Parts: sequence; C-alpha cells; structure tokens
Amino acid sequence: MSKFTTLSEEYRQSIEAELEGSLELLGDSPLRRDIGYVFSMGGKRVRPLLTIFASEAVGAFSQDVMQAAVAIEILHNFTLVHDDIMDKADTRRGKATVHITSGTNTAILVGDQMMALAYDALEKCSGRHLRAGLRIFNEGVKQVCDGQALDENLSKSVGYTMTDYIDMISRKTGALLMAAGELGALLGGGTTQEIGSLGKFGLNIGIAFQILDDMLDLEGDMERFGKPRGLDIMEKKRNFLFIKAQQSMDRKSFAVVDAAYRKNSVSADDVVAVHDAYRNAGIFEDGKKEVADYTERALANLEALTASAGKEMLVELADTLVKRRF
Ligand code: IPE
Ligand code: IPE
Ligand code: MG
Ligand code: MG
Ligand code: MG
Repeated sequence: MSKFTTLSEEYRQSIEAELEGSLELLGDSPLRRDIGYVFSMGGKRVRPLLTIFASEAVGAFSQDVMQAAVAIEILHNFTLVHDDIMDKADTRRGKATVHITSGTNTAILVGDQMMALAYDALEKCSGRHLRAGLRIFNEGVKQVCDGQALDENLSKSVGYTMTDYIDMISRKTGALLMAAGELGALLGGGTTQEIGSLGKFGLNIGIAFQILDDMLDLEGDMERFGKPRGLDIMEKKRNFLFIKAQQSMDRKSFAVVDAAYRKNSVSADDVVAVHDAYRNAGIFEDGKKEVADYTERALANLEALTASAGKEMLVELADTLVKRRF
C-alpha cells in the first residue's frame, strides 16, 4: 500500500471518530439520531484530508487542524442534506437521504443544526487563529449558498454559458475546497502567500471535482457513487455535459438532449438517449480534458511551496480525485 493510502486511511479513521464524538455536543437533541445517521453514511472525506495535508505542506498537523477539518466536513454534510432536498435525491452514498427517512421539515432542521455543530468544532481551535479561521469559514458558507442559488436559477434559465457554469461551480463546490485548503494552511502556520496558494489549489481541485461529478452522474461506478443515475437530467440541471453539448453538438444531435430537457417528466429511456447522444458527440472526452486542465492548474498552485511530505500527499490527493469513479 502506498504512503498516501495508508496515511489517508489513518486520518480518515480519526475524522470518523471526531465526527462521532461531536454528537456528544448535541446532548438530548431530538435531531441527534438523524445527524448520527448522516455521519454513519460514509463519504470520501476529501475536504478534511485536504485541510490536514495542507497543514503538513506548510508546517505541522495539530489538534487545531483536526478541529477545522472536522468543521469543514460537518459543513459539507449539512450542504448535502439540503442539496438532496433541493435536487429531490432519494439516495446518497447508497443509502436513503434524510428527507426520505425523516421527512423534509426534519431534514431542514438537521442541516441547520449541523451548521451550528460545525461552528462548535471550529470554535475549539486555539484563539490565535480563530478570527482568521472564522473569516475563511464564513466566506465558504456564503459562497456555497450563492453557488447553490445560481445552480437553481441558472439551470432554469436559457442563455446559460460555460463561463456562468464555471462561476457557479466555483462557488457551490470550489469555495468549500478552497476554505479547506486555506484553513489547513492557516492552522498549520503558513504564510499569507502559502494560505493563498493552498486556497487556489483547493478551488481548482474543486472545479475539476464538480465537472467530474457531473460526468459520474451518468458514467460513475453507480454502486459506489451511491446517487441515482442520471438525476441531473431528470432534474434538468444544466450541468457541464449539457452546456458542452449545447455549444458543440450539431442541431440535429442536440435535439435529443433538448427534447428531454423540455419534458415535464424525464423517463429512464430519455436518460439513456441523452447519455448516448453525449457519448456519440465525445462530450465525456471534453469533460476529461477539462478535469485534467483544472487539475494541472491546481498542481501549478503548489509550485511555490517547498518540497515536503504534505505537498506530496496533496499531489497524490489531486491524482486520486481525477481518477475516481465515484
Ligand atoms: C458531493 O461531494 C457534492 C459535490 C460537491 C459533488 P462528495 O463527492 O465529496 O461527497 P461525499 O462526501 O464523498 O459523499
Ligand atoms: C454539489 O452539487 C452540491 C453542493 C455543493 C452541496 P450536486 O447537486 O451535483 O451534488 P451531488 O451530485 O448531489 O452530490
Ligand atoms: Mg445534488
Ligand atoms: Mg445540487
Ligand atoms: Mg452531482
């Protein structure tokens, strides 16, 4: 097993333990069982790993870094609970989503409560970096909300360009990975410049991550991806594939995609037809190229950092994310 695999697994186990431990802060909350359920659903824990490795790339890992990493992961999980309500997704990580197990109203509250729990974790960081950490964290929260709002609105409007799309995903997904990188660098004792570099690394990794997520919606290892296949089409999301198709497919071929996106109710057959149309037009190849480009940009953001084991782990993390099938 590679050093990256062993180390990520060790850190992942600590993250799981910290998440579980954070439930104690909920006391006898009626939402505790549902939040415990969210934590138990699994997840790749990409963002906290980014925070941890970023700290090691500029200085050292510490309990403060772990608290910030856990705060980011709780925040991420909160956004997923609300995102699944918005996207009408009934499964995540292969399990029923909270609004399915406990109802939409409870799921809204579960998300809200998780947000407070995330601040509880962050608040445990030592005073020296707390104010700057809070600023980074809050910027992440605001950007995710804006990105999700843009996803909602722009996905329904016409004349939606690739530039609009990249802006939207930079906020809904990139911003949280950016905050993860910045927090790791801040709490690891990095300079302002290092914090900036690791933030940009996170942002570019995040953009690549979301473009790939859009592709995995149709071509992922569905068992491990754990989300319903073709949900973006069923929900008529103008994701990367749609926008690229709109730009580059000839009128006749794009008509299949357009027809599905105009239907009131999209069937499984429509999903297959759109998938075939994208495949025949080479849209997935375009997507892979875009993912590789943003990953290259992310790696370039690391160039200014001096060589270290942490930096090597970040390179490996980027590589793992590009190759993922779920
Ligand atoms: C899902 O994020 C939401 C996106 C930004 C695409 P992840 O793919 O990191 O989800 P988990 O936490 O591993 O389940
Ligand atoms: C990312 O978008 C979600 C958040 C930033 C919360 P998606 O809606 O594509 O995420 P998945 O596919 O449901 O995980
Ligand atoms: Mg979703
Ligand atoms: Mg969504
Ligand atoms: Mg998605």
